[in-house]
Amino acid sequence: MNEIVVSGIRSTGNLHLGNYFGAVKNFLRMQEENNCFFFIADYHSLTTHPNPENLRNNVRQVLAEYLACGIDPEKSTVYVQSDVPEVTELYLLLNMNAYVGELERATTFKEKVRKQPDNVNAGLLTYPVLMAADILLHRAAKVPVGKDQEQHLEMTRQFGNRFNRMYKVDYFPEPVAYNFGEQLVKVPGLDGSGKMGKSEGEGNAVFLFDTDEALRKKVMRAVSDSGPTEPNAPKSEAVQNLFTLMSLVSEQATMEFFENAYNTCSIRYGDMKKQLAEDMIRFITPVRSRIQEVLKDEEYLTAVMKRGKEKAQSSAARTVREVREIMGIRY
Ligand code: TRP
Repeated sequence: MNEIVVSGIRSTGNLHLGNYFGAVKNFLRMQEENNCFFFIADYHSLTTHPNPENLRNNVRQVLAEYLACGIDPEKSTVYVQSDVPEVTELYLLLNMNAYVGELERATTFKEKVRKQPDNVNAGLLTYPVLMAADILLHRAAKVPVGKDQEQHLEMTRQFGNRFNRMYKVDYFPEPVAYNFGEQLVKVPGLDGSGKMGKSEGEGNAVFLFDTDEALRKKVMRAVSDSGPTEPNAPKSEAVQNLFTLMSLVSEQATMEFFENAYNTCSIRYGDMKKQLAEDMIRFITPVRSRIQEVLKDEEYLTAVMKRGKEKAQSSAARTVREVREIMGIRY
């Protein structure tokens, strides 16, 4: 296999169980079989004007969390986007054949305009061009993206193909979405409907750094229903969600116990939630202590970033050199 995989990680926010089971676990699998580039997309985050101190902390926190989860800087290239400024040159060059009309039509852009009307900066408009530059910079074949990023990936193909056509070359490959299809786990949140996400409101997501106490509180407050009234009744979405979460962190026997209790109408959701919280804690504890360990080791983090930067730059520099050559920037 050994195909090139590129994925950008948002530098805002912390990992929750939804990210872990939905995305990070797949990264761990991917890095065994491919040449992976995982980077922290700090340039992208500038569209929302983070303050400098927060930016630094966020980048280190996110990096530490991914490393603690098992992203291996020996197997993958792990870097920070702004450490590889070659991407900005490719971004500029790609901007020349990205049309304002198509950028304005991007769903994510329209959403931002709605959500932050006071800060519709040009960086937001050209966000998909920067993302295309991230991907094309390493001439990736595969990009792990969720549904919300599929349009950006389509635009990436568009920009790459347009470049190829314009300069009559076959330079950029067409990157395709890379996920494990049906095996993709959809991790529900605690608020009774939909998936786990941090934007769904406080209390919906269980973060890897949550304290035991905070976690217990959240889980005990999770939405359920008034309980089954007849044997083997179908489950409401909220209750199904609790069972789905349980299937991710609990033992088979525990699952069976509560399934059985549900089917015989003897279930007590309070007990189930207590068990779920304890099993989540059991799962999270080692990851959480590894996050803290890595975060404390500033030297290690710096070394990882430096190594990643070097590896990413050698791939990036080559692409930029070749693109310049193709475009005639050689005087
Ligand atoms: N836009 C992506 C997100 O919001 C992050 C991202 C930036 C990315 N550049 C990328 C993802 C390149 C994949 C490839 O999640």
